[in-house]
Amino acid sequence: MKIAILGAGNMGLSFSKSFLKYELIKPENLHLITRNQSKFSKISEDFPKSKISTFDEVTELNADLIIIAVKPQDFKHVAENIKFKLRETQMVLSIMAGIKIERIQQLLDHPLVVRAMPNSPTLLGMGITGYTSAQGISFSQLINIERLLNSTGRSVYLENEELLDGVTALSGSGPAYFYYIIDAMIKAGTEMGIDENLSKLFVTQTMLGAYHLINNSDKNLEALIQDVASKGGTTEAALKTFNENNLKEILKTGILNAEKRAKELNG
Ligand SMILES: NC(=O)c1ccc[n+]([C@@H]2O[C@H](COP(=O)([O-])OP(=O)(O)OC[C@H]3O[C@@H](n4cnc5c(N)ncnc54)[C@H](OP(=O)(O)O)[C@@H]3O)[C@@H](O)[C@H]2O)c1
Repeated sequence: MKIAILGAGNMGLSFSKSFLKYELIKPENLHLITRNQSKFSKISEDFPKSKISTFDEVTELNADLIIIAVKPQDFKHVAENIKFKLRETQMVLSIMAGIKIERIQQLLDHPLVVRAMPNSPTLLGMGITGYTSAQGISFSQLINIERLLNSTGRSVYLENEELLDGVTALSGSGPAYFYYIIDAMIKAGTEMGIDENLSKLFVTQTMLGAYHLINNSDKNLEALIQDVASKGGTTEAALKTFNENNLKEILKTGILNAEKRAKELNG
């Protein structure tokens, strides 16, 4: 299998690394496409055997799968300026937030489109990707794509494309929400006199432990909270402030706004 990555940025390169790590393709069958030459030397350090081109110099693309990993805002320009002709059998996998399959098909004048929404932990093989596909894509073609996605973490097929905007808002953007909360916790630690690096250790290890308790317990989240929050205790004092300030609602509203933004990006 030959794969081209159109937009060799953070995500495009994370995906490429995972494919090579699990030997899903040979490095010489990977073609990385950038906007300009400025990133060539950096990219070739990590991908010495792969082909690297600028977008403008690609007049023919000999790949079975083309992964579109440019920013959603750049896609229209890309689609309108492609110099190569997509062949009937070539598959397109978009990982762009928000842009619907139908729009990708229209702008590229090509039917075989799979749309996926990964997240940044794909870099470590710990991502989660929701994906869906256009009509006319065979089961075996989808299985091939799922195998590639699984090298970056877990993947979940969704029948309903509309839900991908929710996935974008939940897990696509999700790592940033956790970083945001963790940052607040670390800052609270330093304000209480704990060294920043120690505070970070206490917080991140707590996050890891909480994750495993969620996954290994029969209790629901409310019961897990109650386990920590004894009456009149410290956790209860913190939760009281959170509740009085509607923190849960604020977080939910933020996430729903992320979904709204994903819908706007189809624009
Ligand atoms: N980051 C995430 O956590 C995440 C999660 C899920 C989905 N996504 C999606 O993944 C896509 C890429 O995100 P990213 O974070 O990897 O962004 P990024 O690092 O900016 O990567 C996009 C790359 O595309 C390149 N590019 C722009 N126009 C191009 C063209 N005409 N030809 C070839 N390359 C071109 C950019 O080049 P320049 O550097 O020169 O601009 C950049 O290297 C986005 O559509 C985003 O919605 C990202």
